[in-house]
Order: sequence, then C-alpha cells, then structure tokens
Amino acid sequence: MKTISELVNEMTLDEKIAMVHGCEFFKSSGAKRLDIPDLIYSDGPAGVRQEFEPDNWTPIGQGFDKVTWLPSNTCLASTWNPDLAYLHGKILGEETKGRGKDIILGPGFNIKRTPLCGRNFEYLSEDPYLSAAMASPIIKGIQSSNVSACAKHFALNNQELDRMSAESIVDERTLFEIYLPAFEVCLRKQSDDKDSLAAGSLSVMASYNRYNDEYVCDGNKLLSDILRDKWHYDGLVVSDWGAVHNTVGSYNSTLDVEMSVTPNFDEYYLADPLKEKIENGKLAEDELNEKVKRILLLMKRLHMLDDRDERKPGCYNTFAHQQGALDIAREGIILLKNKKKHLPLSLRGKKVAIIGDNATRTHANGGGSSEINTLYDISPLLGLQMISGGDTEFKYCKGYYIDNESKVIGDVDWQAESLAVDYTKAENAELFKDKIAPKRKELLDEAVALAKDCDEVIFIGGLNHAYDVEGFDRPDMKLPYGQDELIVALKSANENLTVVLLNGGSVEMPWLDQVDNLIQSSYFGMNGSIALAEIITGATNPSGHLAETYPVKLSDLPAHQSEKSYPGIFEDKDFRQVTYEEGIMVGYRHFVTEKKKVAFPFGHGLSYSSFELSDLKTSLSEEGENVSVQVDVCLKNISDLDGKETVQLYIAPKDSPVVRPAYELKSFKKVKIPAKSEEKIVFNLDGHSFAYYDVDKESYLAKEGSYDIYVGFSSDDLPAKATLSLNKDYYFNELFR
Ligand code: BGC
Repeated sequence: MKTISELVNEMTLDEKIAMVHGCEFFKSSGAKRLDIPDLIYSDGPAGVRQEFEPDNWTPIGQGFDKVTWLPSNTCLASTWNPDLAYLHGKILGEETKGRGKDIILGPGFNIKRTPLCGRNFEYLSEDPYLSAAMASPIIKGIQSSNVSACAKHFALNNQELDRMSAESIVDERTLFEIYLPAFEVCLRKQSDDKDSLAAGSLSVMASYNRYNDEYVCDGNKLLSDILRDKWHYDGLVVSDWGAVHNTVGSYNSTLDVEMSVTPNFDEYYLADPLKEKIENGKLAEDELNEKVKRILLLMKRLHMLDDRDERKPGCYNTFAHQQGALDIAREGIILLKNKKKHLPLSLRGKKVAIIGDNATRTHANGGGSSEINTLYDISPLLGLQMISGGDTEFKYCKGYYIDNESKVIGDVDWQAESLAVDYTKAENAELFKDKIAPKRKELLDEAVALAKDCDEVIFIGGLNHAYDVEGFDRPDMKLPYGQDELIVALKSANENLTVVLLNGGSVEMPWLDQVDNLIQSSYFGMNGSIALAEIITGATNPSGHLAETYPVKLSDLPAHQSEKSYPGIFEDKDFRQVTYEEGIMVGYRHFVTEKKKVAFPFGHGLSYSSFELSDLKTSLSEEGENVSVQVDVCLKNISDLDGKETVQLYIAPKDSPVVRPAYELKSFKKVKIPAKSEEKIVFNLDGHSFAYYDVDKESYLAKEGSYDIYVGFSSDDLPAKATLSLNKDYYFNELFR
C-alpha cells in the first residue's frame, strides 16, 4: 500500500500533468501504469446528467442514463427541512455512484442577490444561514455514498449576464458576512460537534467571474489566500467549465483541475502549456506535486485507490428515490395565499377548468447544465387527474401563447443564444401587434369561456426554462406571455380561481389583491405534480416557506437601485463591473431594515392548520470564552388538522457600533404537530449567532450589548420576543458553527 507521496514520487511529469486537466468533457485522467483511476464528473444539482460523447454534446446514453429527477434546490430550500436536504443528497449520491461517477457538480448555493439571475432555481436562498443549513446536509447526504459533492460556484457568481467575464466588486465585510460563510462551513471538515454545520465537501468549483481584478480561477485572493491559507482547505478545486484563462495564474492559484468544453484537451492551460513552462524552468514542479497530491487525497477519501472493495455500490431509479423526490416536493410547494380559506378544493363531482401552459409542460430537460433526462415526468394536469380523476371532470385549455417555444423545450444551444424577441420593447411593438397579440387574444377568449362554464378554475402558469436558464438573466421580473392580463380576466370570469405559479424565483404580481388563492413552487421534480395535486385537494397539508423575499416590484430590490449595481457597467475596463452597492443588505435584510412593503416576506408560507406561539424563554450562560443561549418556545396547533410548521428565530442587535440589518435569521426548526396539541421547541445558540464581520480584526465579533430575539413564522410575522445581553465581546474565526 503506497502513500500518496510515494505515488507522486513515482509519477512522470506527463502523468502528473494529465491529472490536472480534462481529457474529456467530464473526465480527468488517472495514471494507468500506477493503477490510479480516472476521475469522472457529472452535473448536477437535481439529478445525474445524461451521457455525452467525450468531446461534444451529442447524447449517447440510449436511455440507460435516465434517472430520478429531484426537486430543484429552490424547491428543496422551501421545505426548510434539513432532513429532506440530507435525503436529497443521499439520493443524488447513490445515483451518482450508480451511474459510475465520482464527483457530482453540486449543490449550487450562490446567494440570490437579484431575482433576475437565470440560475436562481438551482440555488438555495438569499440568506447565508438558510443556504448553509440546507447545503450542509445535501453535501453530507451525497458523500455518504463515497462520491464527492462539488460546492459551486465559488464565489460571487450571482448573475448570469456576462458571467464568464464580469467582475464582482464587493466590500470586505459583505464578502465575509454574506457571500462566503455558507461556502466556508460547507467546506470545513466535519467534527464531533453535533450542532456544527461543517459538511466537509471534498471538492469545490471555482467560478467564471472576476473578483479583485482577476479571474477567480487565475487569481490568488479567493483560492489561495482565503480557501487554502485562511480556511486550510485540502480538498479538490476544479474550475468551472472553461473558467481558466492563463497557465501561470491558475497554476499558482492552487486550482487543481482545469475543465472546459472544447475538445483540444492537450492545449488546455494546465496541459501542454504548463508542461512547457515546467520543462523550461519558468514554473517549479512543486505546486504540480501538491495538486496531484490533493487529487489523490480525494481518491483515497472515496476509496478509489487501494481499498476499492470498501467503496459503496450505488443505484438509480429505485422506488425509494422516487418516493424521496415526492416527499421533498410535498414540503417544497408553498401556499402563499388562502384568503377566504377556499383551499383545499373539494373537486368531487365538479367541472374544473385547468388553464395554462405549465399545466401540461414538464421541465426536467431544460435550464442548462442541470437538465435531467428523467425516467418519467408527470405534468400538473396528469397529477390532478391521477389524484381526482373519475370523480371530477377536468377541462384543459392553454390560456396563453408562447412565442419562444424552441427555447422552452431546450432544443437550442442555451449556451449560445439569448432570450427570444422581447415583445414588450417599443421597437417590437408592430411585430407584437401583428404576430402575437391576435394569438394571445384567441387563447384568452377561449380560456375565459371555459372558466365561465366551470365550477372551479385552476390556472397553472409561471415561468419555464426559457427564463430560468443558465447563461442568461431574466429581462425583468414580470410574468411573460400576457399571463397578468389572463389572470385578471379569469378572476372576472369565475370567482373560484386558484392561481398556481411554477417558477425558479420571484415574479411581480400586479393582480395580487384580486387573487385569493395562490400556490407557488419552483421546479419540483418527477413526482412534484402529485404533491401539487395533493396540496390542491388537501391530501397533503402544505408546509413550504419562501427561501427568498417576493418584492412588490423589481425596483424595490436593494441590488436594483443603480446600473452600477445591476446589471453592472463598462467603465474603464472592457468587461462589466458589477458593484454590490447594497452591501450586506441583501434580500429581507433590506426590507426589514427599511420597513418596506413586500408582496410576500422571506420565510412566508401557509398551512391548512393554524399555529400559535407562546411562552418564549431564554437562558444565557457565559463562561470564559464560551457563550450559550437556549431559547424555548411553545408551538400550538390550534386547528383540527395535523400539520407541519417552521418556527424561525431572528436576532436583532439593539445597539451596534456598525450598521447591521434590523434582524437576521439565526436558527429554525420544522416540526410536525398533531391537531390540537403543542410542543416545546428548543433552539441552542452560541456566540456565532450574534456575530458580524469585524473588518479591522479580520474576524467575526459578537459584540457585548443587548439583543432582541424574535421567533415566528416569517421575517414579517414574529409574534414572540425576548431580550438578552452579552456581557463581553466574543471573537470567532467563522460565522457559522
Ligand atoms: C456550469 C457549471 C456546470 C459545468 C459543467 C458550467 O457551464 O456553470 O455549473 O457544472 O458547466 O456542465
């Protein structure tokens, strides 16, 4: 049994170079002579991607690469249930191994700074704590199958517009308080501390964008200074596909493997050009040895070297995985509004109009690299029929006309094309009048007539992967295809209207006051439509909560106050510079601090049960450098229906030497409470929960002073409150325990 150093000592320069760059789109070489296997990668967060030719995007799976399609990360985050996040990861890990892969390229958990980011559906939240609390169990779940998670995209890749060249300009405090903490804790090695979120992700993907005047992959600041030197990360760092731009920079940045999407593998920056520089003495071989050691360390951790018998087998498409996908969707769908308690619907014996393109569309095979060749996919209309068919007469019509169909079904090169013609722009007004308006009118009239003729109307619309897509940002926050007008018309035609929106992120809802029943979900996986039908009919009691704020309109968002902030500007550079002017005030942090109205607050989600909180108590203990706080609260289900509720805990500093958000999420618990019963919920906090990033001391500071503890059901509904004081300052190296 050779040690890693012994193996490296035996390797030739060529063998080592072969290991630090892709030899296929999703493979980097091992060394056959020394029985070192290749490393096999696959996308992505919602399932294992289909098989392609080694050097082009021609699918070759012949159907054997069909897999379980899991709910998107946005849907998963909306469960606020870390156990389901673990299940999600476990399924993904087993399928990764089952498909013969070593590294699954996910989870993605960049902070949702703007709802326009085309990849938000793949990410978890606008809040770093919720992102960390959900990403950590996903990673642990994945890695329980002896495959590696790959936390992505590290870091500051918060928009898709010009993602391959734009520079993210962020102040130091915001970087360490908002954008890095979830990565730090997910990469940190697991310890015996059962309350720690440390997940020990064995690999991480370095992002496309620039930071600090350099590309992330070719620069020192994020990779060598922070990741390696500050965090002591010894896992594998792989570039995003095509994110490396020079040999010396990426060699010195401590990046381990360069991957890309062109077939000239020997010409990659860390291939022949690197060999040449080492051979003629321009670069020392030591760093190459370090890179190869880290790759071998990853292989060792996955039992890929001399103890292969110990590596766990995998499996895919099991019934258990399909059941898991259903369980996650059941908790990831959100009941946003149920004003007159019209929901759940009793559909028996009724004539029901189902209107909207998303009622018959499935979304697995779109969105970019997270596309999934799913074993099966159930449309919402089929889901409803599966649950209530026979007793209910369902009538379907499409309701709105889609003018960019080829993009929706993903049969275009999403990496090369921009969004379809924007018919809302003045220059396209004529085109719109001639080509689109008549078709829209025809479908709207048909839908209104159907709505008038039915007992209930369920509109199922929202976005699709023409909008929620890698490589592009949404042009605005509006619902496309004239859906706003259609929803208003349907409501006038029939009082009994339920609106269901399927989308990767928030949309403006100018009709919100007129609509009483509203359900929202992100793309919810292969069985999500069953979960949706169950929620509509009451077979499942909804328990999803928003993992991001739904603002009233785009211009209310802190990131959308200037061009400089979003989409960024070209000033004295030939690339876009995006200045994160809102600093730490991302998402609800802004809205609660400014007391600004939103459509739906962060954390919001209704149930068919009703809950009450009482008896909030805190107990604080400070001993030496340790501080611990226990917060107890009683949660009562005052309804006749069993239900699940997420109790959220926010901390508000009362007197702070620096600007801080009015309050921030620091813990949450999701619990199932039977009808007419109660449970004591216990939160265990420590000093980390009170901390902000102290730029001068370069560490996190929980400042002496008073804090309010708020407990409730969303960032805007916090009925329970207590106050406590820390008697001294506490410093930490990291934000999350
Ligand atoms: C995406 C990554 C993905 C990679 C490989 C890139 O374009 O940004 O998230 O894992 O492609 O498909």
